[in-house]
Amino acid sequence: MHDFRGLVKILEERGELYRISRPVDPKFEMPAVMEHIERERKAFLFENVKGARFPVIGGVLNRMECYGWALGSKPGEPFTAQDLDVRFEKAKAAGIGPREVKSGPVKEVLCTGADINLADLPVPTVFELDSGAFITAAVGVSRNPRTGKLNVGVYRTLILGRNIVAVNASSLSDLRKFYQHAEKTGEPMPIALALGVEPALQMAASCKLPPDQSELDLAGALQGKAIDLVKCETSDLLVPANAEMIIEGRVDFSRKIENTLGEFAGQYGPETAPVTEVTAITHRRDAMFYSILAGKNPEHNTLGSIATFAIQRALAGALRSQLPAIRDINVYLDPKFGSMAHIVISIRKQNDAEPMALMEAAFKAAGGFFPVSHITKRIVVVDDDVNVHDLNDVEWAIWTRIAAAGKFRVIPDVESWELERCAKDGKGSLRLAVDATMDMEDREKLQRPVIPGADKVKLADYLSRKTAA
Ligand SMILES: Cc1cc2nc3c(=O)[nH]c(=O)nc-3n(C[C@H](O)[C@H](O)[C@H](O)COP(=O)(O)O)c2cc1C
Repeated sequence: MHDFRGLVKILEERGELYRISRPVDPKFEMPAVMEHIERERKAFLFENVKGARFPVIGGVLNRMECYGWALGSKPGEPFTAQDLDVRFEKAKAAGIGPREVKSGPVKEVLCTGADINLADLPVPTVFELDSGAFITAAVGVSRNPRTGKLNVGVYRTLILGRNIVAVNASSLSDLRKFYQHAEKTGEPMPIALALGVEPALQMAASCKLPPDQSELDLAGALQGKAIDLVKCETSDLLVPANAEMIIEGRVDFSRKIENTLGEFAGQYGPETAPVTEVTAITHRRDAMFYSILAGKNPEHNTLGSIATFAIQRALAGALRSQLPAIRDINVYLDPKFGSMAHIVISIRKQNDAEPMALMEAAFKAAGGFFPVSHITKRIVVVDDDVNVHDLNDVEWAIWTRIAAAGKFRVIPDVESWELERCAKDGKGSLRLAVDATMDMEDREKLQRPVIPGADKVKLADYLSRKTAA
């Protein structure tokens, strides 16, 4: 298991990190270079950011191998999204609670009052129409007012001035509920942003857990060791003691800011957030500022995909239990489709009306976290010889087995979730049902060419030099 610096070290040792010493402007120039580096799936360390006092580190979790390395796998060992999902499920069941410690490296330097100046931070302005410079990698710490427990999540944070920020909580987040509670009751609401935390905590913070489960316990179990927490300087919140930097603040609901940032699905997303007054910054003496390139980019998308595991499982499980005809199902929640789910279901149909009836029922079904129709743009039903886990096979079925127009059905004006940015106010958006099964009358004609015995061949048996006597 590696902490943040440990991960950076192994990336550098393995030639996976580019150091950029040439001075870069944090507005547009640095993100433009980040984008090129992210395309190569490398990490970056900008040593000289104009006007700032800290170097910028990022790209450290931009492909699954990096998650494996952070969690202790060896170089060359494969590590896939499925492996990460399995590790998450085990860690959720095990849980290792955090440990409160007296101090830690993040307390090496303390800034309060007039010493606070967010302009010292190398915060990038990424896209043309963004509202400004956004902190994108911060793990936000707050307290659940109902249970008193700590809650963490990743929240994009707009810099508004020397000591003012806006921490965005989407309508799906627990933080939004805490904001609503504090605004209604008038209770003071402290918040803290932690940058450069243990990779396991960065992963856990990106994950959507039910409110009664703790991301901190999950992070501890993922790394096999409790997360060390230390008291804030200006509130009773506890924050990661080994972080690179902590920004402490107090939320002020008297002022709200509309703001826009390029999102994970490749579109701009508007948000409204209360302002937060920064009350202290603590950091390591040689702190690195962690920044995730916003938008439809690898590190943002792979971390974001962690939140989708639970949604995918909930959707698939709900549909399987409500529709027993399902043989296999795959829920795609992949930014290549934007922000919406695409579901592929295989069945062994008994008549030609069955697939469309099944899709109609599926669109009406409850989906765990959300109703299926709110987040699913397209459902495709295929025969059970098609692999629902292979999009190439699914595409092949759509374009080789459909001749009648009635096998596509467009369902208009369906209520959507807020992340479908093209949905119309009050009208929602379309949904598409695609019956890619063979018509019953075509079953002989459209058989797949199969080489008899191919599924039983073990190639190694034929490549061995020894020949049978
Ligand atoms: C890079 C990145 C940026 C994110 N930005 C936001 C954001 O601005 N607002 C938000 O509510 N969730 C954002 N998320 C998703 C949350 O971190 C995730 O949904 C988390 O579960 C929210 O925690 P909560 O529900 O405990 O508040 C982001 C995730 C990642 C990986």
